Amino acid sequence: MSRVAVLGGGVIGLSVAWGLARRGTEVVLVDLPLPGASSPVAAGMISAAAELDYGETELWQVTSRSQAQWPEFAAELAQASGRPVGLRPTGTLLVATDQDEQVRLDRRLKLLADAGVGAQRLERRELLRKEPALARTVRGAAWLPDDFCVDRSLVLDALRSAIASAGVRTIRAQGRVRMQDGRATGITLPDLSVDADHVVLCAGWRSPHALDDPVAERAGAPMSGLRPVKGELLDLELAAPAVTSTVRAVVDRVPVYLVPHDDTHLTVGATSVDVGADLAPTVRAALELLSAATTLVPELRDARITEHRVGLRPASSDNLPAIGISPMPGLTLATGHYRHGFLLAPLTSDVVADSVRAALTEGDS
Ligand code: GLY
Repeated sequence: MSRVAVLGGGVIGLSVAWGLARRGTEVVLVDLPLPGASSPVAAGMISAAAELDYGETELWQVTSRSQAQWPEFAAELAQASGRPVGLRPTGTLLVATDQDEQVRLDRRLKLLADAGVGAQRLERRELLRKEPALARTVRGAAWLPDDFCVDRSLVLDALRSAIASAGVRTIRAQGRVRMQDGRATGITLPDLSVDADHVVLCAGWRSPHALDDPVAERAGAPMSGLRPVKGELLDLELAAPAVTSTVRAVVDRVPVYLVPHDDTHLTVGATSVDVGADLAPTVRAALELLSAATTLVPELRDARITEHRVGLRPASSDNLPAIGISPMPGLTLATGHYRHGFLLAPLTSDVVADSVRAALTEGDS
């Protein structure tokens, strides 16, 4: 039987390993959790439409497809792992907080309609009826009823259990892709090597560092443009339930989202700063995010801050992920998921598992 080595154990590496293992492929996963990994920090929004931007048609095609796969992916993962995944149908409210944002909201509704998304326009009164804790100053919103959020820790734990049950061996070490005679033949670790017939590189923004320079160069654009984009988030414990929907807004030019996990836990996110691999939690981020969040929902002033998290999103030069691209024989990339790691996990799992298995079959025949 062919053996596949997966390098990287974030949501993408785990989903790829599970996709392969549940199709009957032997998998070894190599991962060393390092500070700045983006999966343990993610807010867990499954909302392709809220992330849609002008000119991102190609990205929309994959994000919307993957979102549609989430309910089945979550149900199968819960069954395979025997653990909850925490997929919640929160929907998303895109809230306009002032007149400029109201104009932008109308443009966004047109963008969504052109993409085939049936977002509903809520006037102020309807919006406040739906979310009474929002500030009285809000102007209106677009309602995206088909959005979800997941609990990042539950998903990661469920994936770890599912791969263990499916027989995946996990090695805790920092590895590099081993190339021999122009093809990937395994993973080199500090004190041993893992032989493999195929390697899948899922190491987030560190992916280029797992390849020798000439190999990274030959891998081309997906590797050369990959960089970390810093994001800071705050986890809050609430004195009383605040919002039931995921809420997104731009408040005094600060983009902010509120993701309710249950009646008493909510994540406020996120900054997006292109400053390299900087892991420092900053006063500026806390001030800006909390000011925006409490302007939107004044009673959040009574919440307790339980964590200030920092993660580094793996962003490519065109914001598109590299999924299933195979620039070198024996090597598949699953990286560059930028803001969309959890959202794109089901699609990445299927596309990569199918293409790796097809490559192995071609190689075997
Ligand atoms: N997906 C939201 C973020 O990256 O902040």
